[in-house]
Amino acid sequence: MTYVVNEACIKCKYMDCVEVCPVDCFYEGENMLVIHPDECIDCGVCEPECPAEAIVPDSESDAEKWVEINRQYASQWPNITRKKDAPADADAWKGVPDKFTKFFKP
Ligand code: SF4
Ligand code: F3S
Repeated sequence: MTYVVNEACIKCKYMDCVEVCPVDCFYEGENMLVIHPDECIDCGVCEPECPAEAIVPDSESDAEKWVEINRQYASQWPNITRKKDAPADADAWKGVPDKFTKFFKP
């Protein structure tokens, strides 16, 4: 079991999640974060902290795709343990659909 970050994070990237993770298993891409599925201890602490509701348990119906994306990019992107400033227009991107197709940056 793991939690994963889905496309709701893209261009929101609030980073409140990294402050609370006890095992520092978030990794930073240009416009989103991912969780390393093998490092996450499934504590669930980060889920309610995300203003974009981008963190979900892998038991959710469409989570399989996100587990693979989180796994792939956690192995390529740098670890992040401290919150930085969110993008200035983060709130404008909250809830916008299809962000993975349009804006994901590997
Ligand atoms: Fe970290 Fe817990 Fe969130 Fe997993 S569920 S990413 S261990 S805070
Ligand atoms: Fe993304 Fe939410 Fe963290 S928007 S950076 S998963 S707080």
